[in-house]
Amino acid sequence: MKALVLAGGSGTRLRPITHTRAKQLVPVANKPVLYYGLESIAAAGIREVGIVVGDTHAEIEAAVGDGSRFSLQATYLRQKEPLGLAHAVLIARDYLGDDDFVMYLGDNFVVGGIESLVGRFRGSRPSAQIMLTRVSDPRHFGVAELDADGRVVRLEEKPREPKSDLALVGVYLFTPAVHEAVAELKPSWRGELEITDAIQWLIDNGHVVEPSVISGYWKDTGNVADMLEVNRLVLESVERRIDGEVEDCELIGRVVVEAGAVVRGSRIVGPAVVGAGTVITGSYVGPFTSIGADCVLSGSEIEYSIVLPRASIRGVRRIEASLIGHDVEVTPAPDTPKAHRLVLGDHSKVQISS
Ligand code: TTP
Repeated sequence: MKALVLAGGSGTRLRPITHTRAKQLVPVANKPVLYYGLESIAAAGIREVGIVVGDTHAEIEAAVGDGSRFSLQATYLRQKEPLGLAHAVLIARDYLGDDDFVMYLGDNFVVGGIESLVGRFRGSRPSAQIMLTRVSDPRHFGVAELDADGRVVRLEEKPREPKSDLALVGVYLFTPAVHEAVAELKPSWRGELEITDAIQWLIDNGHVVEPSVISGYWKDTGNVADMLEVNRLVLESVERRIDGEVEDCELIGRVVVEAGAVVRGSRIVGPAVVGAGTVITGSYVGPFTSIGADCVLSGSEIEYSIVLPRASIRGVRRIEASLIGHDVEVTPAPDTPKAHRLVLGDHSKVQISS
């Protein structure tokens, strides 16, 4: 059995971070979200992984390498344009050969891993096994309609009027039967080859498509709110560890300060992590905050946020529910003249109290 990890796409919902970066590498508790997926693939006993990459291929390849760090053999499959999840299966046809495979969306986060799902698939080998979970607003997801016996009858991608609240989770298991379905597909109204259409084709052509409704935690980290929520969840399980230099500080609860970080005259309320090489002085870091490596935080307050490497935040109170990119500088505006001076990338979202 192989794994197909989708790490291409355009990441429009995470702009401007994704103008310059692969969204699958945005860190959760200071570790790229993609790594959690690769670790759970390896934990399910799979060794060969094909990674579909797009414009950000160099960055993904640099981060994952040959896969040996995860006990995997990684092969990169270049998708020239993000033409859909089923298009990714199409371009992976030769790599996948006649093997069964698990398709894993590289920006998805499944708590508890995929071991039991893969075990169940290996037992019964349906043409496709899909995972479903109940969501409050199904209009943003692929949605499944089940009949009274719990069989899948219809799948719809981002429906305007959803027939159920069961959303497709970004982990799918397939036998090679899916290739026949994918070869038959036409682009949807979005111009993409939809994996939901491929699965619908399997249903319509008499194949067994097995649903499992999972109650565990799953998130698509495609937008900032979900990203912060996954970060919160992962930080919930960190253990306190202070390897860096700490002086004249109050560190409460589960706080990680990596070796090489310096924290002085500050208060950190966990769960929170501080990356190597970061310097924090005269600041407050509140719960559910991940500060990346080589950042500077002085005279500032921040909580429930993710700060990427090399950002500097000086004299700003208080930052909340924020995702701050690499090498960003955040400083207070001088009191006079009372005007906002902004240098913002395309599609930035800024909230200013005036
Ligand atoms: P999506 O989040 O559905 O799509 P996207 O990355 O284009 O993001 P947005 O909606 O914000 O524009 O993609 C799910 C995962 O699959 C993600 O890791 C990117 C990847 N992907 C591909 O590798 N190839 C593709 O053609 C598409 C559409 C997505």
